[in-house]
Amino acid sequence: MILFDKKSELTSHINNLKKQEKSIGFVPTMGALHRGHLSLIEQARYENDIVVASIFINPTQFDNQEDLLKYPKTLESDLNLLKESGCDVVFVPTVEEIYSEHIKAKNFDFGGIEFEMEGKFRSGHFDGVATIVKELFNIVTPTIAYFGEKDFQQLQIIKKLVELEELPITIKGCPIFREEDGLAMSSRNMRLTDEQLKVAPLVYNILMKAREKFKTQNIQKISEWVENQFKNHPLLDLEYFLIADENSLKPSIEKEISKNYRAFIAVYAGKTRLIDNINLSLQSLEK
Ligand code: PAJ
Repeated sequence: MILFDKKSELTSHINNLKKQEKSIGFVPTMGALHRGHLSLIEQARYENDIVVASIFINPTQFDNQEDLLKYPKTLESDLNLLKESGCDVVFVPTVEEIYSEHIKAKNFDFGGIEFEMEGKFRSGHFDGVATIVKELFNIVTPTIAYFGEKDFQQLQIIKKLVELEELPITIKGCPIFREEDGLAMSSRNMRLTDEQLKVAPLVYNILMKAREKFKTQNIQKISEWVENQFKNHPLLDLEYFLIADENSLKPSIEKEISKNYRAFIAVYAGKTRLIDNINLSLQSLEK
């Protein structure tokens, strides 16, 4: 595995690979890698000649300075995991290498999906994500880039980015990788206390029950039921639960047969924010 920290050196390495007509699979990350990240690397390994990963804690996508400062950093173990997973190239730039002296996000217009859910609660977050992903795409010029459905809104935003910028890149969404107890894997889970870890699987549990209820109940009733599950919970604080159309990400009130729905949730365990989502489409309900 070759490690790069300079944009120009990585770009010239990639240009050489492209001359040999190699396909490039790309997995951007912020490090603190877990099996969820590695499932993306495996998918990329399976479908491409060369696998490139990046590790960069992007300051412009954090709306909360404390969250940025406390973001887990496990570079040595990350590099070992990437190597073991068959990653060929890893890009680990500094903040200066990416942003020079202007650590600022650009403004994007994604037609409104950026203002729903995470966009409402994490102001400027998606401008930061789109800024860094666009820059990484320019440097890596991947054939296919892989993103987790764990951050479903981010995945939709990146698809929109590629469409708007007319980039010749295929974006693939990968399923959410979970702990055995159902908790969606996340780098932020490292910050949970033992007590919080014990109750955190409730988030997925409630999503699964909401999915069951979606067969027979209306959306308002399900939302009220979810809110009640968190009322007076000693350790978990619900930020939002909503059911939205997968494409527009607009919260739905009425079910329409022709649409694919997903339930989205954000919950605080102390200062750690957990997000999760589940597919509610009729096909997935039949399983
Ligand atoms: P990060 O949180 O490190 O996640 C990197 C990729 O791994 C994202 O596509 C994310 O959706 C995916 N991922 C995380 N947990 C997962 C899980 N449990 N199952 C499946 N996939 C999972 O997302 C980011 O970094 C950043 O916003 C980034 C895109 C790198 C831009 O800075």
